[in-house]
Parts: sequence; structure tokens; C-alpha cells
Amino acid sequence: MDTPQLIKVTIDGQEVNVPAGTSIMEAARQIGPDVAPPAMCYYKPLKGSGGKCRACLVKVTQGSEKDPRPMPKLVASCITMAQDGMKVENFTSPDVVEARKGVVEFLLLNHPLDCPVCDQAGECHLQDFAFEHGTEATRFEEDRRTYEPENIGDKIQLHMNRCVLCYRCVYTADQITNERVHGVMNRGDHAQISTYISKAIDNDFSGNMIDVCPVGALTDKTYRFKSRVWFSKPVDAHCACEKCSGKVNLWYKGDEVIRVTARKNIWGEVEEFICNTCRFERKNTSDWVIEGPTKVSRASVISANKYRANEIAKPKFALEYAKENFKKIDDSRPYEHNLAEVKESEDYKKLMEKNDAFFSKNKSLK
Ligand code: SF4
Ligand code: FES
Repeated sequence: MDTPQLIKVTIDGQEVNVPAGTSIMEAARQIGPDVAPPAMCYYKPLKGSGGKCRACLVKVTQGSEKDPRPMPKLVASCITMAQDGMKVENFTSPDVVEARKGVVEFLLLNHPLDCPVCDQAGECHLQDFAFEHGTEATRFEEDRRTYEPENIGDKIQLHMNRCVLCYRCVYTADQITNERVHGVMNRGDHAQISTYISKAIDNDFSGNMIDVCPVGALTDKTYRFKSRVWFSKPVDAHCACEKCSGKVNLWYKGDEVIRVTARKNIWGEVEEFICNTCRFERKNTSDWVIEGPTKVSRASVISANKYRANEIAKPKFALEYAKENFKKIDDSRPYEHNLAEVKESEDYKKLMEKNDAFFSKNKSLK
């Protein structure tokens, strides 16, 4: 097999070599989370996803080695292919940072402030995106679009009010299940996810739409309102399933399994899609082989109150910095000062002069 041609891309000053045909987003992800642009619609496992939300805008300051001109506008990194010698600015570009504030504002135009009651709170990509890139206030004064919650089958509920029209659920139904009976109806401000004539989605992999939804628009009816996610404990588990890989996360509240989800990678993307039997019907510990606690990022609210030694260990550089920079307290100085000597010093006299001048002006304070 031919080795793919490698191209060099520089993102926020960091170089990476990737195969030709790699998007800027994927090149940035190879460098790491500090450089990777945020994504609200792009989802690597879903073919054709991306290009809907503009969360991942970046600035291309050099198109390629051959044509070093900058690109005239910010581009969506998830659907723009990297070129050899391309230079990209993400977090280092004030234009990008400013544009993202606008993208957050647009995504929130119709989004309700449901976080206190939304099951997705704590693992919502829009919460993270707004927190990391948004502004405090909105300029939107009009009424928000509102829809009644809709049941999509007996296990999934759609809150269209929260939908950001990323199309991930549509691609999931198209590519993972054997029949898609929902989609985006209408256009522009009227666009909405619907099953049209409310046809139920009851095929075996439909539950994956809940996992791919970046917000709380699609929720698991068997889990709704059972717990805030940070009060539950995720563990990795597997079973010998005939329909899917059987690799899941079980979410415990006390001894009870309150939710089963597919496992996700550091980008919040499902590693292997799971079937509805695993998701909705295997809610007993005895149905599973437990592998151990799920590794949750220390920055995630889901880690709160879970004191696992491997996650709370201080980073090595911090310990080294502390060792080098914190000096031993010098306690060899005499404990008592000679007051007569202090009173004779120039500093003391100047201080007393200032003091007297202040109180002669503010007699009432004396
Ligand atoms: S329901 Fe969720 S996954 Fe589907 S388009 Fe809306 S935000 Fe995206
Ligand atoms: S993540 Fe690139 S446009 Fe949505």
C-alpha cells in the first residue's frame, strides 16, 4: 500500500504533519485540545457532518507553501482541507475570538435558559461553548421560537426549543439505523427537527441520537429528571451483545443504574454506537461485566466530588515549579525591634509627617 503523502500545517504556532486530505479541524485535534477548535455540528464518526454551526471558524494566514496568500474570510475548520505549508490561527487570532462570540450569540438566540432543568446540563456542548467563547449578555429582544415537547418513539423526547439544528441526529438515523423517519422540516427561522406526522422512531439503534445531540434537545425518557449528571458515577462496562459491541458507560446513583450510554472520546464523540436493548433495557448491574471507573476529565463537572487519586494528582510541572520558586522562610531575624532606633529612622519620620498632615485636614477622624 502506498504511504499517504504528508503535509505540514502550522496551527497557533505549532506544527503538525498530517496525510493530504485532512481537514484543519482534524489536524488541530492531532496537536491536542489546547489547539483544537470547538465543534457543535461536526462529528467525525458521521459522514458529511460539519459546516452547519460555524463554531469552528479559524483564520488562515497563509493558504499554502505554493500560494502563501491569506484566505480573505474566516473559514469553517471542519470542512476546510489543510494544504501543505498552511498557517492557521485559532485561539491566537483576535478576529476568531470575536467571531465566536457572535456565533454563540446566534446559537443562543432561540435557546431557552433551561439549564437548571435540562438533563444535558453538565455535559452540554453549548454550555461549554457559551462559557468558553460567549459574552455575558444577549442583544436579542424578540420573542423566542417555542415548540411543545414531542415524543419521538416511546423512549426519546424532543425539545425543539433547545435544538441548534446541527443535523447530527439526522445523519445518525441515516447512517446508523436502517430507516430514517425524521429530518429537518422547513427552512430558515422555521426549520425544525420533526418526524413529520409524528411517526415513531423505533428501530434498534435510534437511541444513539440522544448521545450525538450536543444539547438537551433529544433526551432519554428512561433517565429524564432522575439525577443531575454530577451526582452520578460513570463506570465502564460491557456485555456480550448480539447486536452491538456491548461497550457502554453505566451511570450509577447509589446502587442503581440510572442511565446507559455509549462511550465517548475526548472530543465528546461516540466510540462505538450501541443498540437500544443495551441502552434502555439492561439497567441491572448483573447484566454487565464492570471494568472500572470511567476516566473523566478533571475539568469536567462530572468529576466533582469524586476524589480519585489519579485525577486529582497535581501536574508534574506545578510540583517542580513550586520546588524551585518557594524559598524557605528566613526565621533568623531578631524577633523584637528596637523601637527607639525605629523612631529615629528617616522612614519613620516621613510616615509621621504624612500622618499628621492627614489628621490636621480630617480633624473629625482623629
Ligand atoms: S435535535 Fe440535537 S442532534 Fe438533532 S439537530 Fe437538534 S441539536 Fe442537533
Ligand atoms: S463544527 Fe464546523 S461548522 Fe459546525
